[in-house]
Amino acid sequence: MPGTTRIAPAFGSNAVRGSGMRRILVTGASGQIGSELVPALRTRYGALRVVASDVRLPPAGAAHDGPFEHVDCVHIREIEAVVARHDVGTIYHLAALLSAVAEERPRVAWEVNMGGLYRVLEVARQHGCAVFFPSSIGAFGPGTPRMATPQDTIQRPSTMYGITKVAGELLCDYYASRFGLDTRGLRLPGLISHVALPGGGTTDWAVEIFYQAVRYRRYTCFLRPDTQLDMMYMPDALRAMIELMEVDGACLAHRNAFNVTSMSLSPEQLAEEIRRHLPDFAIDYEVDPLRQAIADSWPRSLDDGAARKEWGWSPRWGLASTTRDMLEKLEARLRPAH
Ligand SMILES: NC(=O)c1ccc[n+]([C@@H]2O[C@H](COP(=O)([O-])OP(=O)(O)OC[C@H]3O[C@@H](n4cnc5c(N)ncnc54)[C@H](O)[C@@H]3O)[C@@H](O)[C@H]2O)c1
Repeated sequence: MPGTTRIAPAFGSNAVRGSGMRRILVTGASGQIGSELVPALRTRYGALRVVASDVRLPPAGAAHDGPFEHVDCVHIREIEAVVARHDVGTIYHLAALLSAVAEERPRVAWEVNMGGLYRVLEVARQHGCAVFFPSSIGAFGPGTPRMATPQDTIQRPSTMYGITKVAGELLCDYYASRFGLDTRGLRLPGLISHVALPGGGTTDWAVEIFYQAVRYRRYTCFLRPDTQLDMMYMPDALRAMIELMEVDGACLAHRNAFNVTSMSLSPEQLAEEIRRHLPDFAIDYEVDPLRQAIADSWPRSLDDGAARKEWGWSPRWGLASTTRDMLEKLEARLRPAH
């Protein structure tokens, strides 16, 4: 039922339980996902068992909930030192440049997204850690079937972000087959959340729209009104990441790149849903050609049948429940400007 991020007890875990009492490291922990994944992991496994890390400081208030380390993932010694010092057994590797930022800074994106993952996998190999890698709908490209995009299909992305995600999926497969490393991953869709702002992706509009609706009752969207993309509310994403890392690895055929989705929606559909709660909400459009081109190269809706079959994935949040919850949470936190 929507309204909760609770998941089943950790008894069936493999990657996490299999590492005994060893700790969990989250890289890129100060970002949109990490700001909520770290508290979720700490609630589940204990505050001291989860080490947050990033190149930037965590948001105010989060720093003292448990250990935080400065780790720049392009420096293997920094990763190595923290993994050894904290006896890390599982790494959630979130550090990356997102799609729009990567398109503006492709060289840095390659270094951080590929170089960072390679170094994390190397440290994991040396220390016997399980690794979670978040791929993306950006790992597909213009040649991929747009509707009900299959789990195994054409992947020829046209963006630097997508290239690093496909290569990342393959690199994780390689470390699993070549070195027996327990690598697992999801192709996440755009994530809607209300704790930390998104970090420069093509689906940022689906978060901004809620903040602007609550504050100003209007939003100018950078994508065309009919641009349909897969989306997921953060509680579903956190549950998917944790459930995948806990499931018995013997169940998994597609280890590193499971399609997952909760809903497929466009700006005009989300605006209409927001208007059910805020009838005076207005949306207009100033299309950003860079982000529109990225969105146009991505699928419209994923087939997540492999995740459902292999480890029991099932989304709990849809458009109506996500919209209601986002507005309630933000209304409580933000003062409307009028
Ligand atoms: N948010 C989404 O909608 C979405 C969708 C699909 C996949 N993903 C993937 O999930 C992961 C996390 O995404 P997010 O939305 O939290 O991103 P974000 O941009 O909000 O956060 C990324 C974090 O990585 C940190 N970082 C950047 N370079 C680093 C480095 N060299 N070393 C250590 N940390 C570094 C940043 O400071 C930032 O806090 C990324 O791999 C992203 O590609 C996100």
